[in-house]
Amino acid sequence: MHMSKEEKLRQLEAEAKACKRCRLHKTRTNVVFGSGPADAEIMLLGEGPGFMEDKSGAPFVGAAGKNLDSLLQTAGLKREDVYITNIVLCRPPQNRDPLPDEIESCKCFLEGHISVIKPKFIITLGRVAARTLLGRYVTMGREHGKLLDCTYAGTDFKLYLTYHPAAALYGAEAKQRLQADFKKLGQRIKSIR
Ligand code: URA
Repeated sequence: MHMSKEEKLRQLEAEAKACKRCRLHKTRTNVVFGSGPADAEIMLLGEGPGFMEDKSGAPFVGAAGKNLDSLLQTAGLKREDVYITNIVLCRPPQNRDPLPDEIESCKCFLEGHISVIKPKFIITLGRVAARTLLGRYVTMGREHGKLLDCTYAGTDFKLYLTYHPAAALYGAEAKQRLQADFKKLGQRIKSIR
């Protein structure tokens, strides 16, 4: 039976909502599956839900989300045109980094997202997302602003590496680096599309 991308995503979401593969299910309020069109050309990948996301069930709705909205604008993108999700779909307690076994447990949903949506571009926000897609050690200080050819979950796409938008909360310099990266991202997308 033929299933649309939309239907496939809804099925994956139902699976995620029932997921107890790792310890994070015990402390979550909501599974934060993702938001955006099922046929988006551009996917943004964060690290994991924070307090506000856990409460609401939607990605990037807190302070980092505000920053993300203004960064998307800098790149000439609209939130409703991009698909946004995270490496882990349940909030790590106290917003700690997700642990390697939690990332591993959640990979079926990351792979599902990528193989269904088949985005042309994936933008990783921060080192956790970059390391997960590349399967190697990455420091943003050295690699931010890079555009790489990447294959993940049987899907080829351009991978753009940048900082996590929460970094802009830590100071003016970090904010400028993020803004410059998103400006460059907008130019890159225009030239490739
Ligand atoms: N930080 C993330 O990495 N993801 C969110 O959804 C919110 C904050």
